[in-house]
Amino acid sequence: MAKLVAHMRLIAGALALAFIVAISAPVSAQQPSMVNPTADAVKEQQLLQQLKSIQGRGTIPDVKSYTLEQPVGRNWQHFHSVTLRWIGGIAIVGMLAVLVIFYLSRGMVMLKSGRSGRTIVRFNTFERFVHWMTATCFIILAVTGLNVTFGRPIFAATVGSEAFTTWSEWAKYAHNYLSFPFTIGVVLIFLMWIGGNIPNKVDIEWLRRGGGIIGNDHPPAYRFNAGQKGIYWIVVLGGAAVAITGYVLMFPFYGTTIDTMQYAQMIHAVVAVLFVAAMLAHIYIGTIGMEGAFEAMGEGTVDINWAKEHHSLWLEDEMGRSAKGARTQPAE
Ligand code: HEM
Repeated sequence: MAKLVAHMRLIAGALALAFIVAISAPVSAQQPSMVNPTADAVKEQQLLQQLKSIQGRGTIPDVKSYTLEQPVGRNWQHFHSVTLRWIGGIAIVGMLAVLVIFYLSRGMVMLKSGRSGRTIVRFNTFERFVHWMTATCFIILAVTGLNVTFGRPIFAATVGSEAFTTWSEWAKYAHNYLSFPFTIGVVLIFLMWIGGNIPNKVDIEWLRRGGGIIGNDHPPAYRFNAGQKGIYWIVVLGGAAVAITGYVLMFPFYGTTIDTMQYAQMIHAVVAVLFVAAMLAHIYIGTIGMEGAFEAMGEGTVDINWAKEHHSLWLEDEMGRSAKGARTQPAE
């Protein structure tokens, strides 16, 4: 009997101990945060400042997924969804506004001396093919690229998120695949026209006279004037910058880290929106901005009077050469 009582005491004592431990455990777990609720956050902040990121541990082979926190990512996120939209919006809408105002106040630059009826070859078939291939790719790349930055705020609400997702998926394929012919086009443009695009003294005079665009002046120019040389170098250098950074993004983490990927994205996006703004000015002058300009890239020939007014030194060179082997022809 005494043994049974002793056993029962032991069991009761164990139960009481277990009960005390059970109710005291949650209380002790909460205690640190009750004492200082921000203690953990402060430590985390210090850690982030010192280490630039917080790494965990994992079992899957992709070690990049072990990064738990990386504050630079938040800066990038802010750039992507706020700063870039401002830069792009101001550059593109600003350029469109300038062109509309310019067109309304200046109108088309007309051929002062009218048409002569004789034309001269300005761009051969291969040059025109390269130009239009690059231009077509550029326009699709521009639209599909701008979709990444502006698509969601502009379209998602209007066309609905399902249609926006389908369009964005196709847009992304187009953006990736057309980068290849675009890059080839930029390399060919560089090689084809480098000869006529080295800056020289004539460019200074052309710039000093404002290219003759404001007013009715016609400063002399060789095959490409200073404005066109500017476009050429924007295409070559801007094209190289978007291509290199684009391939860094398309083939992620081949010798790059998350930091370099973020910088690549920022350079790609800023250069691209400025590139688009610059090309809007080019498209303007090649179409409604100047009488007779589009024919150069459309048919490959320009009127002799157009050449005289806009590229007098080039015409003299060509005439000198055509005395040996004709490049001029009567217009149809
Ligand atoms: C609808 C779009 C476009 C039109 C109507 C257009 C029109 C033209 C025309 C008419 C010329 C010849 C100018 C001359 O005879 O002096 C030209 C030249 C040129 N284009 Fe385009 N173009 C377009 C898009 C592009 C794009 C997207 C690029 C490059 C990404 C580009 C790059 C060039 C370059 C480098 C030249 C030679 C330099 C110059 O004349 O400015 N073009 N373009």
